[in-house]
Amino acid sequence: WVGKRTELPSTFKKAKRVNLDGRLVLPGFVDSHTHLVFAGDRSSDLEKRLNGASYQEIAAQGGGILRTVTETRKASPKTLDGLARERIAHFLSQGVTTIEAKSGYGLDLKTEQKILACLNGAQKKQPATIVSTYLAAHDVPVEFKGNKKAYVDLVTGPWLEKVARLCHYADIFIDKGFFDVTDGELLAHGCQKLGLPLKVHADELELTGGTEFAVHHKALSADHLLKIGPKEITLLANSETTATLLPTTAFYLKTGYAPARDLLNSGARVCLASDFNPGTSPTQDISLVGVLAALYMEMATHEIITALTLNGAYALGLQNSKGALLPGFDCDFVAFESDSAAAVFYQFGQPQVPRLVATSGKLLKF
Ligand code: NIG
Ligand code: FE
Repeated sequence: WVGKRTELPSTFKKAKRVNLDGRLVLPGFVDSHTHLVFAGDRSSDLEKRLNGASYQEIAAQGGGILRTVTETRKASPKTLDGLARERIAHFLSQGVTTIEAKSGYGLDLKTEQKILACLNGAQKKQPATIVSTYLAAHDVPVEFKGNKKAYVDLVTGPWLEKVARLCHYADIFIDKGFFDVTDGELLAHGCQKLGLPLKVHADELELTGGTEFAVHHKALSADHLLKIGPKEITLLANSETTATLLPTTAFYLKTGYAPARDLLNSGARVCLASDFNPGTSPTQDISLVGVLAALYMEMATHEIITALTLNGAYALGLQNSKGALLPGFDCDFVAFESDSAAAVFYQFGQPQVPRLVATSGKLLKF
């Protein structure tokens, strides 16, 4: 329940009181796009990119996603659990109370299941809400090199059926050098049969139809959108698909930022997320996401907050319980020392740290 003290329903009159001393209270942040569970790091990929190699060239040489796949396949469930625990704690300390996390560094059934099981385990062991996404269509593993069709058939057929009870959504990386709209059609078909909502990595490296595909299939979100133009913006604006923008990825890829202003002006629902992953966004810094959106995407403070709360919830189909402080919603909130919302997305590196975070009404102090 939320409202005026004088209207407090009598059932709550005996509840414990916590005085927040005039602090700024926001709904807990919703990070609707992360690749939380991976082993190893890819700093050498970054060095290669800085020496002139492109993301796709590195991937084609067996670096990129496939390097992280090798490391993640080798990692024990215990190692992955430990990494997930630390990373979730770091998100919580910044006021992120709902975290979406994708598989996609297994690319074989066993490891995809290992990652999704790790996420399901994490849900039980810590206070943030974790929702998981099956992303075996992230890259074609070495054992299927030159035989993408056979891999896609497995991923969108028998594997999908086996993992459906372990995940909340399915996702596909539709981009040059990875998967195409035809592969997406197979995934959409499989998901429809199982009632699994779709999310799409769309038009990040090149414009290859991912956004159009996402809108056509009523995906919950189309994510990245670095290369979209007026046509895709209009499609998104006239749809229920949330436009998820990932500014730290644009920052690390040294490309232009997504057209947030045009999307907002045309009426699209814009969400921001971290895309935390070892390749294109090796940071969990939520204030950096907001600072980049303010500096380079012409987003106003209230738009950034909405993008990181309610619109993040929309991108996960959780708009009736997360991302806003309304009666009947989960009691997830963040209380900052400052009373100014602009101060939350002002500094990065040494951001405003919330003094108090609540997840489903449970208080965590920092
Ligand atoms: O969202 N685009 C695909 N997936 C990630 C990158 C993953 C990686 O490089 O390891 C992304 O940018
Ligand atoms: Fe991603």
